[in-house]
Amino acid sequence: MIFRYFNRQSFVAVVAVSLVSLFGCSQQQPSATIEPSPDTATTVASETKAADPQAETLKNLQAAYNGESNAHVMYLEFSEKADEEGYAEVARLFRAAARAEEIHRDNHAKVIKSMGATPENDIATPQVSSTAENLEKAIKGESYERDTMYPKFISQAKTAGNEAAVQTFTYATEAETQHAAFYTQALNNLNEWKEATQPFYVCEASGHTTINAEEAAACPQPNGSEKFEEVL
Ligand SMILES: [Fe+2]
Ligand SMILES: [Fe+2]
Repeated sequence: MIFRYFNRQSFVAVVAVSLVSLFGCSQQQPSATIEPSPDTATTVASETKAADPQAETLKNLQAAYNGESNAHVMYLEFSEKADEEGYAEVARLFRAAARAEEIHRDNHAKVIKSMGATPENDIATPQVSSTAENLEKAIKGESYERDTMYPKFISQAKTAGNEAAVQTFTYATEAETQHAAFYTQALNNLNEWKEATQPFYVCEASGHTTINAEEAAACPQPNGSEKFEEVL
């Protein structure tokens, strides 16, 4: 009984203390909120606003750099396969696109470096199938970049006010649009793409890819270098 008494006493005491604590807490006035001074608030807000979009753009540039690096390697493999299968003109197209992706890769790298970061890529071993399947895969990749990835990256770079990123993403979008169109044309007329009949032209500044020499000559020429390269 004594133990029971003490236990009951203890229980009552604990409950009482708990209730007091709870009641006490509920009655406590909220601690004073420390309001930032207007100056501090402005500084914090502007830093947050300025830092996040740039960080996001840098992340996008790294993703695009990695994508272009892999596309460059993959298209070179696809061109070899196309040559093996007797699709000489398709092989030229893959070589031209590979060169364009290389230009995009290097353009993205320049912007990444200008932001004080190091370009990072992870090159996967390309999976090479038949030329028809390789074209299908290439169309999917180019379409995704044209319709989804680069438009999102461009919009984000505009929010960040990063004109160099907007420029390099825009160059890439235009070229990926051309690649998707050429790949679709090749896939739909594969037998007509066996004989190598015409070269492709790739703009050194933007990766613009065309079979029209006059159109290629209109590409930007920031370094006074050759306007375009002929890819055979
Ligand atoms: Fe590209
Ligand atoms: Fe492309």
